[in-house]
Amino acid sequence: MRDQRDMDAKARAILRLNDRGNYTVPTDGLYPHQWNWDSAFAALGLSTFDPGRAWTELEALFSGQWGNGMVPHILYHEHNDGYFPGPDVWGCNGRIPSSGISQPPVAATIIRRIWSTDRISGEKRVRMLYPKLVAWHRWFMTWRVDRGAVCISHPWEAGRDNAPDWDDALARITAPNVGEYQRRDTMTVDPSMRPRKRDYDRYIWLVNLGKRVGWDAARLSECNPFRVADPTMTFILLRANRDLAAIGRELGEDVRGLDGWTDRLTKGALSLWNSEIGSYDARDILSGKWTGCISNASFLCWYGGLRDHRMMRHFHRIGRSVPYWVPSHDPESSRFDRKRYWRGPVWPVMNTLIGIGMDEAGLVDEARALRDKTADLVRNGGFFEYFDPCDGSPAGGQDFTWTAAIWLAWISERNGTGGWERFN
Ligand code: SER
Repeated sequence: MRDQRDMDAKARAILRLNDRGNYTVPTDGLYPHQWNWDSAFAALGLSTFDPGRAWTELEALFSGQWGNGMVPHILYHEHNDGYFPGPDVWGCNGRIPSSGISQPPVAATIIRRIWSTDRISGEKRVRMLYPKLVAWHRWFMTWRVDRGAVCISHPWEAGRDNAPDWDDALARITAPNVGEYQRRDTMTVDPSMRPRKRDYDRYIWLVNLGKRVGWDAARLSECNPFRVADPTMTFILLRANRDLAAIGRELGEDVRGLDGWTDRLTKGALSLWNSEIGSYDARDILSGKWTGCISNASFLCWYGGLRDHRMMRHFHRIGRSVPYWVPSHDPESSRFDRKRYWRGPVWPVMNTLIGIGMDEAGLVDEARALRDKTADLVRNGGFFEYFDPCDGSPAGGQDFTWTAAIWLAWISERNGTGGWERFN
């Protein structure tokens, strides 16, 4: 057990280590560019000791926003051969070389949070960011919503790349002619902790499809065989949209449009309840079928603002079946894979969102227990990307930005709950 102050210092040192001037890489080597939601979490961590740099991080993220409002999931500010696929594979024409898809929009929530701790100098930064956030949310509402639930167009868009939730939709894709390519991720991280080649072939096939239609959102939604309504996106956008409206109100903006989106998204979130398994679940839009997955995203219902305790049954059941929670996939499912990325491991960053939601929903003891478990994982294993829920061993990338960030903003005793329980 390491001393709290050492852990705080180490977390800050990781954020500095991964700092590339005005943006932060998720981890050196494995992910050498700016990733969308990783960057928002980096800003959250930075705000605990350097608020000015936190705002710069967010501004760098929005500097890559497309004309149609989309904020890409990767911004390639600098050339780096160490990551595949690079910008040439995507073939996008934004201001900054980028990917052609987005990622879970945690930014509005994090911006509201940072502003609450940096009121004076934060205001002009928030004023600049506000219309960009509205444009991004509008892009989601225009191109990604089905019956109020937010859909993904590529597994990378949910951030949960190889989650079993996407297996059936990906199985429809035969991925012919994807050609030879050289993965870089498995040179840095043990292949047993990463997605399989079969999944990668389909990820690249979908990128090629987007490139062929020039990343035109309308054309892509017509021809894309992969479209899945996702609890990650739905709960996160619902939450972010409510936070964006709160920001707008403070700035004196007309937020009726945002409130309308919140109503639609609330209906969409409720529509993800799969009564057959008694859980929030992903829904394959093309087949109309549930994916039958109880994932860590299912537990984001509280973060999304639903005051619904039905997921507690699974929370307690899963807590009895593995010592470290919340695993990214149900450990009692045959598809559970304890070390393979989003098919089993515990992700501290997801636990943070789940825990914040639990606190707000009045599940205070459970939120505290989750925070303590997450702290144990990081204290004993280090600031890794994810952890094996069966024995707590660290996995994936090390010196990881968002793990360091949530240490400072959610776990550290210096911050207690970081004030999140009083946030809403
Ligand atoms: N998470 C993906 C990767 O592993 C991209 O977003 O490369």
